[in-house]
Amino acid sequence: MFSEHSIVVSGVSKCFPIYDRPADRLLQMLYRGRRTFGREFWALRDISFSIARGETVGIVGRNGSGKSTLLQMICGTLSTTSGNIEVKGRVGALLELGSGFNPEFTGRENVYMSAAVLGLSREETEHRFDDIVAFADIAKFINQPVKTYSSGMALRLAFAVQSQIDPDVLIVDEALAVGDARFQAKCFDRLKRLKDNGTSILLVTHSSDQIVNHCSRAILLDSGSLIMQGEPRDVVNKYMDVLFGGERQAAEEVAPELIVSGSTEHGIDHIPLSLAQDVFADKAGYNHHEYRWGDGAASILDFSLRADSHEPHIVMSGQSIHLSASIRFNRTVVRPIFGVTIKTREGVTVAGTNSELLSDEVHTHGLGEAGSGVVAHVKFRCALASGDYFISLGVASRTEETIVPHDRRYDAVHFTVAPTNTFYGLADLEMSMDISEAARRQ
Ligand SMILES: Nc1ncnc2c1ncn2[C@@H]1O[C@H](COP(=O)(O)OP(=O)(O)OP(=O)(O)O)[C@@H](O)[C@H]1O
Ligand SMILES: [Mg+2]
Repeated sequence: MFSEHSIVVSGVSKCFPIYDRPADRLLQMLYRGRRTFGREFWALRDISFSIARGETVGIVGRNGSGKSTLLQMICGTLSTTSGNIEVKGRVGALLELGSGFNPEFTGRENVYMSAAVLGLSREETEHRFDDIVAFADIAKFINQPVKTYSSGMALRLAFAVQSQIDPDVLIVDEALAVGDARFQAKCFDRLKRLKDNGTSILLVTHSSDQIVNHCSRAILLDSGSLIMQGEPRDVVNKYMDVLFGGERQAAEEVAPELIVSGSTEHGIDHIPLSLAQDVFADKAGYNHHEYRWGDGAASILDFSLRADSHEPHIVMSGQSIHLSASIRFNRTVVRPIFGVTIKTREGVTVAGTNSELLSDEVHTHGLGEAGSGVVAHVKFRCALASGDYFISLGVASRTEETIVPHDRRYDAVHFTVAPTNTFYGLADLEMSMDISEAARRQ
């Protein structure tokens, strides 16, 4: 089958005029372009991408990066300054500025009006009306004016309308965030069914988990430019980079050799770890697709991962895992923070902690002098379901409110948990069960 595109965005830019005084906006209207009173602000510059039929694509980016502007242009509610957008078929949209309903009219009237805007005849809407109200689960309020609805109720009805019209393209701009967790789950279920039927979905969300769980591809916007598109995991990692202002690590500096001897504090003999050079690549369990960044003031150079078993990278659920990592300070770092995060193969965070959160038990005072090294030991009971997991390691420090990442090695270590048959789900909560016979009624 040839690839069918539902959305093709080619070289799109958007410029907004900005007026320093409200009077300038008025003057501009009166002069109709014969004189310029405002400044130009380019919210988007030269954006190109396409979305295939049945694809779910996530868009991420900082506040003000241009996500909503882009979605509004795709929906046709905002014009482009230059470039071209082609959208095939019926477009459903949930934009960030409210539900698009008229607050004075009832839920019922708004359903009919929205459906008409989406191109449905009165009969078609009648045919779907009950399903829409059932999905929204607001039957009791359907004859009340929408102005009496809570924002969650309005969202329920809006999502129900937009998703029950069988759109060819569905655009969701952060709207789902106001729904409660149960409704969100229902929405994602519905999105999956639409996608299986060939609907293309564009989703803006600040939730990395939603991007990796529900999207087949992701796009990162920053300051109006498309700076990356690709695998959701990679894009989300890059987004973290943009958010926290990290620079990719500079080339490895040469430093004096330093070996920190093992400690037995956690009840296991630690093998010495290198502080001379980066030896991750020599280690079993190293993930060559790790994503590494930081300003280079410290480097994480070596790690060891051990479980009670012989084969260290296949772990039985419930075993203890001992993870050590060596860190060298290339420059003096005041009050370093050491962090560890475990994620599933899909990129969902299972658990994470850092020395700041554990400050009652972990003391980092006096550490971080230039040229010195430390070994961080982490121990946890691996009560996880079978599958592949990735460990991220990080060293950072804090300047007032901002965290300065020195070396972050996302998904650097891989391990596998062997199948188990004592529980199902994500993790073993050590559920127990006791069944006793109840007294019979006479
Ligand atoms: N009508 C407008 N007039 C002037 N500037 C605008 C207008 N609409 C948006 N902008 C500017 O364009 C930029 C992009 O805004 P947009 O709403 O697309 O960002 P966003 O990525 O959706 O952000 P958020 O995550 O906060 O929703 C911002 O700097 C915003 O101030
Ligand atoms: Mg927005």
